[in-house]
Amino acid sequence: FEKEDERPVRQRLLVVANRLPVSAVRKGEDSWTLEISAGGLVTALLGVKEFEARWIGWAGVNVPDEIGQKALTKALAEKRCIPVFLDEEIVHQYYNGYCNNILWPLFHYLGLPQEDRLATTRSFQSQFAAYKKANQMFADVVNMHYEEGDVVWCHDYHLMFLPKCLKEYNSAMKVGWFLHTPFPSSEIHRTLPSRSELLRSVLAADLVGFHTYDYARHFVSACTRILGLEGTPEGVEDQGRLTRVAAFPIGIDSERFINALKLPQVQDHMKDLKERFAGRKVMLGVDRLDMIKGIPQKILAFEKFLEENPSWRDKVVLLQIAVPTRTDVPEYQKLTSQVHEIVGRINGRFGTLTAVPIHHLDRSLDFHALCALYAVTDVALVTSLRDGMNLVSYEFVACQDATKGVLILSEFAGAAQSLGAGAILVNPWNITEVAAAIGQALNMKPDDREKRHKHNFLHVTTHTAQEWAETFVSELNDTVVEAEIRTRD
Ligand code: ADP
Ligand code: G6P
Repeated sequence: FEKEDERPVRQRLLVVANRLPVSAVRKGEDSWTLEISAGGLVTALLGVKEFEARWIGWAGVNVPDEIGQKALTKALAEKRCIPVFLDEEIVHQYYNGYCNNILWPLFHYLGLPQEDRLATTRSFQSQFAAYKKANQMFADVVNMHYEEGDVVWCHDYHLMFLPKCLKEYNSAMKVGWFLHTPFPSSEIHRTLPSRSELLRSVLAADLVGFHTYDYARHFVSACTRILGLEGTPEGVEDQGRLTRVAAFPIGIDSERFINALKLPQVQDHMKDLKERFAGRKVMLGVDRLDMIKGIPQKILAFEKFLEENPSWRDKVVLLQIAVPTRTDVPEYQKLTSQVHEIVGRINGRFGTLTAVPIHHLDRSLDFHALCALYAVTDVALVTSLRDGMNLVSYEFVACQDATKGVLILSEFAGAAQSLGAGAILVNPWNITEVAAAIGQALNMKPDDREKRHKHNFLHVTTHTAQEWAETFVSELNDTVVEAEIRTRD
């Protein structure tokens, strides 16, 4: 271990995201337990190590009392986390409402549910007001902890208003903003009543990042078409001030997965799974139970495959692990019952007294169980209707160096741009095509599997979360220096 004073001075990074990497569960008036939060943003950011990072965000609970707030602040400080306390009403309007019922479906090209459309329009103003208020609360906490020279890195669609709030406090603050979802075509973004205000707030940042070049291009088009600003190869210019816009594809901490496979408890788990599913090929889906993940479409494609290929019926099993998410939003509640209904029907149709074709779990798996499952899988099904990147596909590839299983991947996931050459790409809306891809994957020859896996494994192990963060932060530092030089000249 390096001694404290021999360590190189590392840049302080304030990572601001709606969700902290740990969520709190209350155990008593002043005692809490902390659990790792689910989702790609947290997974990627946990893989970022070489910074002096502090996390600022919401711990996922309402803590109305001062005693509870003090105790939680103390417990979180040990994890270098700083809480933003949001009350129930703000969570309802900002998180469930504006973020997850309006921005999330819109950015994933899903629009709004038909029956909620009018109600949503009526509540839009109050939800947007809550969104701005919540962003201001995040800004207040950042401001309290900011020290000169810090890099402030804001994350995701929850905090599009934050760059503006921060620059109003201190125009010298280095502010970056990164979107973990797709940024949709400007034709979609322009339907949003608050379209201009959100774009202008994001443009207050020094550097704006996306997973893919397409998302960055859509953002620049939205700024030129909606705000009438000038798009340049570097970004967006407004009265001589440049906001740099670029693509920074995220990755995972691949070593963590590869090393986990060597642990005895993971090996034992793999052995159990292999015994339990002996004689059957294992297909796997791991998703948050979210409408963007295309879970009903995936299961219907599997049904079509079984329907058309009777000889496979007792030789393949689909394990769908779907962790519940955003359970207070009605659309998510409807999805849960829809998925249960479809799974029940298919298991009734193709199940036998001793086996069912689909094992569906509404829960999250711990890290070691997840690694073991990835490792014994023959075919992974990632069929998102849209997805910013999709890190499950990366995690699967990282755990497959022995099995060399096949990845079936939606062409609408950002990961299609990096893992497309090694995966079987599908249009997840086309159930017939996905069913055919399942057949192709199950029958694929070993040398083809090996070639595809090699391509993807190389990508996943060389484009890591750490490298992603270093590239973003170093680009942000450079951008600020260049802007200072431009202003001086
Ligand atoms: P998103 O960010 O939309 O949730 P990603 O695929 O990028 O999608 O990231 C999901 C992350 O959450 C991954 O790290 C994955 O391992 C984790 N995850 C998703 N579902 C489960 C589950 N059922 N059990 C355990 N972890 C899960
Ligand atoms: C996606 C979003 C993240 C979010 C995660 C989990 O990955 O991009 O910002 O944290 O989903 O969703 P939740 O609403 O539970 O934070």
